[in-house]
Amino acid sequence: MKHEIQLTINGDNYTLAIDPRRTLNQVLREELNLTGTKLGCGSGDCGACTVIMEGRSVSSCLTLAVEADGKEIMTVEGLALSGEKLHPIQEAFIEKGAIQCGFCTPGMELSAYHLLSKKPHPSENEIREGLSGNLCRCTGYNKIVEAIAVSAEKMNRKPSKRKKR
Ligand code: FES
Ligand code: FES
Repeated sequence: MKHEIQLTINGDNYTLAIDPRRTLNQVLREELNLTGTKLGCGSGDCGACTVIMEGRSVSSCLTLAVEADGKEIMTVEGLALSGEKLHPIQEAFIEKGAIQCGFCTPGMELSAYHLLSKKPHPSENEIREGLSGNLCRCTGYNKIVEAIAVSAEKMNRKPSKRKKR
């Protein structure tokens, strides 16, 4: 039997009738076509599916969509400051060459966003700890860590604003 839920995703409100066994990842990707959120391991180990829910970083593969009912969610599609301008974290990832295949990138960037919203001036160790739930098979991590340090500088220079709709 379908269950009705309401989600606020990147500032937009959705009402959906879903199978209560569906994960938030399935609903984002398959029902809302928000495919920036990746599905890697499906078991909470890789961080590719990371989204921000009510200010917390969560694995959307382990979160049932019904658990997200009434909650505010941010996906990588909501990270950019406007439809055209990239978020400083995204700019820094490009500038530092922190993207190769890109599969881990949305989860990495949202973990970075979560970290920097709690710690605007993180040390290198704090950055590495903040990324500890995100795996990357390509970059060796150093460029990602550098990119997050640059992101912090950029975000401390200019106020970070979420897109208002
Ligand atoms: S797909 Fe969710 S943690 Fe890997
Ligand atoms: S860039 Fe390929 S997995 Fe990270």
